[in-house]
Amino acid sequence: MKNIVITGGAGFIGSHVVRLFVNKYPEYKIINLDKLTYAGNLANLKDIEDKPNYKFVRMDICDFDAFYKLMQDEQIDGIIHLAAESHVDRSIKDPFTFARTNVMGTLSLLQAAKLYWESLPEKYEGKRFYHISTDEVYGALEFDDTLFTEETKYNPHSPYSASKASSDHFVRAYHDTYGMPTIVTNCSNNYGPYQFPEKLIPLFINNIRHRKPLPVYGKGENVRDWLYVEDHARAIDTIFHNGKIAETYNIGGFNEWKNIDIIKVVIKTVDRLLGRAEGEDLDLITYVTDRLGHDARYAIDSRKLQAELGWEPSLQFEEGIEKTVRWYLDNEEWMDNITSGDYEKYYDEMYATSLPVRPLKQ
Ligand code: NAD
Ligand code: TYD
Repeated sequence: MKNIVITGGAGFIGSHVVRLFVNKYPEYKIINLDKLTYAGNLANLKDIEDKPNYKFVRMDICDFDAFYKLMQDEQIDGIIHLAAESHVDRSIKDPFTFARTNVMGTLSLLQAAKLYWESLPEKYEGKRFYHISTDEVYGALEFDDTLFTEETKYNPHSPYSASKASSDHFVRAYHDTYGMPTIVTNCSNNYGPYQFPEKLIPLFINNIRHRKPLPVYGKGENVRDWLYVEDHARAIDTIFHNGKIAETYNIGGFNEWKNIDIIKVVIKTVDRLLGRAEGEDLDLITYVTDRLGHDARYAIDSRKLQAELGWEPSLQFEEGIEKTVRWYLDNEEWMDNITSGDYEKYYDEMYATSLPVRPLKQ
């Protein structure tokens, strides 16, 4: 495997995957393909942007012709597909954008990869299409001890998870119908550096820093299973190289937290690291109207990945959250650039622009 496209490499998880691959595999050419929506930020990759095995291409995954040409020009062997609209609250306001990018964009990549790889003498030999998905496609669990396994029936509730579920089905259909070598993984909530501050943990760290209210949806009793982002990137590396074609792997840290409990840990950690009295900012907690269709609980059973491929999380949560809070407090400039007018500019551009979805080639 020599020439690899990582889509969504300027986003949160994608930037960690790009960094890992560029540093670990100097013999590979790593192409970071990203549209740079409001969530894409090349500042996430400053430390590796000058490496000889790294290239950035600004492209919309829905642009079939451009991607087909890239496959040919760069003789792409592998695709690690992370580009997506990823925030549930945005999907509730604007589901069409999620269907366009997550469903049509994934389908467009699949079809271009199919046409290119089928045109080669070796066809699919040595090729791989690895699709990164979420545990949210499985729906919501009760407050008990059940976990999502790879056999759990899909039951998405939000427009975000419905669009991811649909893209997962298309990826599997390309294996079952055309024999494309695909892999799908479903991961739990990630946390760590470079996460866009619309998601719970970076949003709250920044609000605590500025002593702004912390909007807790509903009663704060929803449960999420949290994994440090670098552990997800390591899992992606392991699965990309050693995972079995057509398999699904769940990725998670066996690390469930009620929102309100995690919020209290974050507040105390920020307070301590800023030299404030620990717990001084607990009164920033503000209960607000619940998210529509708010999934009660997610929890991943990742024993298959651990048993078959030997991956396991490297960080205890306490260590991961300390590292994360410290990173955001040490990187105020990164945060301020996003929360300044520039962020609004990207946001406005995204919604003002409606690129046509080109018809797929047969
Ligand atoms: P993110 O929102 O931080 O980044 C998404 C990236 O995709 C951005 O760089 C954005 O510019 C790019 N992008 C969006 N639309 C595009 C388009 N049409 N063409 C090209 N690029 C486009 O997302 P993330 O949190 O890093 O998530 C990455 C992937 O992992 C997603 O597929 C998501 O569903 C999945 N996932 C995320 C989590 C999580 O906790 N964040 C958990 C499990 C799975
Ligand atoms: P989020 O980071 O948006 O991830 P996801 O919805 O994919 O799990 O939210 C994590 C949890 O935190 C989720 O239960 C919703 C809740 N939440 C709040 O209570 N307040 C907030 O401002 C945000 C962004 C999330």
